Amino acid sequence: MKTFDLYTVPELGELPDRMQALVIRPDREGTPEKAMKLEEVPLPPVGPGQVLVLVMAAGVNFNGVWAARGKPVSVFKMHGEPFHIAGSDASGIVWKVGEGVQRWKAGDEVVVHCNQSCGQCPECNGLDPLACSDQKIWGYETSWGSFAQFTRVQAQQLLPKPKRLNWMEAASYGLTYFTAYRMLVHQADVQPGDNVLVWGAAGGLGVFAIQLCKVLGANPIGVVSSDAKRDFLARLGCDRVVVREGFDLAQRPDETPEQAKRRTSEMKRFGSEIRKLTGGRDPDVVFEHVGRETFPTSVFVAKKFGKIVICGATTGFDLQFDVRHLWMRQKQILGSHFCNAYQAERANRLIEEGKIQPVLDRVFPFHEGPIAHELMATNRHRGKMAIAVQARAASGDATESRSQAPAAGHRAA
Ligand SMILES: NC(=O)c1ccc[n+]([C@@H]2O[C@H](COP(=O)([O-])OP(=O)(O)OC[C@H]3O[C@@H](n4cnc5c(N)ncnc54)[C@H](OP(=O)(O)O)[C@@H]3O)[C@@H](O)[C@H]2O)c1
Repeated sequence: MKTFDLYTVPELGELPDRMQALVIRPDREGTPEKAMKLEEVPLPPVGPGQVLVLVMAAGVNFNGVWAARGKPVSVFKMHGEPFHIAGSDASGIVWKVGEGVQRWKAGDEVVVHCNQSCGQCPECNGLDPLACSDQKIWGYETSWGSFAQFTRVQAQQLLPKPKRLNWMEAASYGLTYFTAYRMLVHQADVQPGDNVLVWGAAGGLGVFAIQLCKVLGANPIGVVSSDAKRDFLARLGCDRVVVREGFDLAQRPDETPEQAKRRTSEMKRFGSEIRKLTGGRDPDVVFEHVGRETFPTSVFVAKKFGKIVICGATTGFDLQFDVRHLWMRQKQILGSHFCNAYQAERANRLIEEGKIQPVLDRVFPFHEGPIAHELMATNRHRGKMAIAVQARAASGDATESRSQAPAAGHRAA
């Protein structure tokens, strides 16, 4: 049975019989460390319009945590396969192309965006592939993600790997950066001079929201949990920071009228803290993904006619808020989900041009993928993390040396 070693680049086009993968099975859903196990599995078959990519490195995202937990929804209900290989970000080398693929050939160095759709329906061809009834997030709603030596993708998911980045950096940004791009550029239509409140500003989405605001000529105000993250944000060019530690904003499930009153005064205090940083203005746009614990505050602090753009709900999806703040002040709530291939391509150009930087904080050897997800699940990370697969090390260029595996949990400079 032919297999490939990790952290090496085999002869182009050569194929093993089996590959190593971090696999989740239905009977071990739970914490990432419990759920994700190293297994040897067959390679995915490659059909028309599909591409097999040799994975050099894979990015860590919160959807790997959701997939491991099996909550709020089990991924096995989404794709019906008996196994799940998570991973919705990758850098790699095109290894084999399926029938009809013309834009890519074996040997091309690529990054992968994670939106899949049928490509044939009117929505795909006139509205937006995100509106396709077959739309899926690769590596979350599909079972052959990037935490494996090979992954199978649709050809339209491929983008050229920015040449200035190493493999680890290139694997780290796609899902969160492209999502933030659609949220701010397309859904919220951020304008120069806008004040944009960014929750979780030192997290995976936040680090790109901050940078995009700067590129768009807007003023980001970052929210973080501790003073320790201030310096981290300063390095991204964000000096307007609110530390949420001293505010009791979370709405409890059985809130009493007294607690509701106290929370309203906390929201007002939080709003005044923001105004101190903006010359007395309320945010034009609030960048939301935290959900239950922050959403009432987001609706409250947005300016009259302001926008709240939301793509996730880390603390819970069943949101409660005082809708009077929405209608009386004519605010808008905008849903957003990943992005389409054109938006990903436009966003990728900003990375190629060096206008947006990947914010890779830590890299892990392949077998430590579950540990990286554990750090994310417990909010003990900053920016982005990546896992080496065929790439050799933090410096990322697998062609420099093929012998050395990356050091455990190495923090990238
Ligand atoms: N729909 C989509 O296309 C899409 C795409 C990407 C991500 N998402 C979702 O968006 C969410 C965030 O993703 P991510 O990659 O940015 O995750 P992340 O790297 O974990 O960052 C999230 C940040 O949220 C902050 N946070 C956590 N709990 C909080 C609370 N109770 N109150 C206020 N802030 C809190 C944390 O920062 P501090 O502790 O410093 O405040 C953390 O850094 C996840 O649920 C993910 O599944 C959705």
